[in-house]
Amino acid sequence: MSSNILAMVAMQLLLIRIVSSQNVTNEYLNHQCNNTQGTYTRGSTFEKNLNQVIRNISHLHLRYGYTYNSNVEAYEVSKDPNIVFVLLQCRGDSYGSKCHSCLHTAFSGLRERCRGNKGAIIWYDQCVLEISSVNTKGRIRYDSFFNMTNVKNVSSNAEQFKNKRKDLFHKLLLGATKDVSDSNDAYAVGETRIGRNKMYAMMQCALDLTTNGCYVCLEWIIGRYDSFYFDRRQGTRVLSRSCSLRYELYPFLRR
Ligand SMILES: *[C@@H]1O[C@H](CO)[C@@H](O)[C@H](O)[C@H]1NC(C)=O
Ligand SMILES: *[C@@H]1O[C@H](CO)[C@@H](O)[C@H](O)[C@H]1NC(C)=O
Ligand SMILES: *[C@@H]1O[C@H](CO)[C@@H](O)[C@H](O)[C@H]1NC(C)=O
Ligand SMILES: *[C@@H]1O[C@H](CO)[C@@H](O)[C@H](O)[C@H]1NC(C)=O
Ligand SMILES: *[C@@H]1O[C@H](CO)[C@@H](O)[C@H](O)[C@H]1NC(C)=O
Repeated sequence: MSSNILAMVAMQLLLIRIVSSQNVTNEYLNHQCNNTQGTYTRGSTFEKNLNQVIRNISHLHLRYGYTYNSNVEAYEVSKDPNIVFVLLQCRGDSYGSKCHSCLHTAFSGLRERCRGNKGAIIWYDQCVLEISSVNTKGRIRYDSFFNMTNVKNVSSNAEQFKNKRKDLFHKLLLGATKDVSDSNDAYAVGETRIGRNKMYAMMQCALDLTTNGCYVCLEWIIGRYDSFYFDRRQGTRVLSRSCSLRYELYPFLRR
C-alpha cells in the first residue's frame, strides 16, 4: 500500500518535471539542400574534409555557441577545390555542452536529409548548422528565411497586443545590436505583460555578422513580417541562416 503511494508520488514528481521542461525542446524545424553547389560522394576528399572540420569543432568550447570553420586556414584566398565551410550557431540559452549536443543532432540530421549535398542548412530549436563549399561568412542569405507560426490569434485588444509587441521588438533589436564588442553575443531576450498574458521573445544573430549586419538582418524580419504577417498571432518564429526572432505567450527558453 504505502509503496504504491510512494510510487504514485514518484510518478507525479516525474510528470511535473517533464511538464515543466517540455517547452525547452530541440525539435527539428527545417532544412534547405543547396542544389547549385553540387554533391560529394562517399569517401571523397570533400567528405573527409567535412568530417574533419566537424571533428575539430567538437573539440572547441563553444562558449558563445558559435563557430565559423574551414579545413583551410587562409580560406579567403584558397583555391582548394574541396574546401569546406561550416557555420554553427547555437541559441543563446544553449551554449557549451548543449551546443555540442545540438551540433551532433544537426550534423546527423543534415547528412540524412541532404545526403551528399555540398551546400546545406538545417535548423533545430537550439542551433543552426550550415555546410558549404563557398565562403558565406558575414553574408545575409535572403533566400534562407522561413517562418513558423502559432495559428491561434489573440481575440481581444489586438491594438494593445501589437503595440506591446512592437515595443518589445524594438527593445530586443537594440539589445541584440548594442556594440559593446566582445561581451555582446548578439542575443537578446525579453518579456512584457499584455493584460493577463505575458509575451516572451528572443532575437539572435549568427556571430559572423557585424553589428550592422545583425541590425540589417533583424530589421528585415521585423519590417517584412511585422506589418501584416505577425498581426494578431499568438506566436511566430522567423529563422534564417543569419538571424532569428521568436515570440510566444509562454516561456520557451532555459532560465
Ligand atoms: C509551457 O508552454 C505552455 C503553453 O504551450 C504554457 O502554458 C506553460 O506555462 C509553459 N510552461 C513553462 C514551464 O514554460
Ligand atoms: C546556394 O549556394 C549558392 C552559392 O553557390 C548561393 O549563392 C545560394 O544563395 C545558395 N542557395 C540556397 C537556397 O541555399
Ligand atoms: C583540425 O585541428 C587540427 C589540430 O588542432 C589541425 O591541425 C587541423 O588542421 C584541423 N583540421 C581541419 C580540417 O580543420
Ligand atoms: C510565412 O510562411 C508561409 C508558409 O511557408 C508563407 O506562405 C508566407 O509567405 C511566409 N510569410 C512571409 C512574410 O514570408
Ligand atoms: C489568424 O489571423 C490570420 C490573419 O491575420 C488568419 O489568416 C488566420 O487564419 C487566423 N487564425 C485562426 C486560427 O483563426
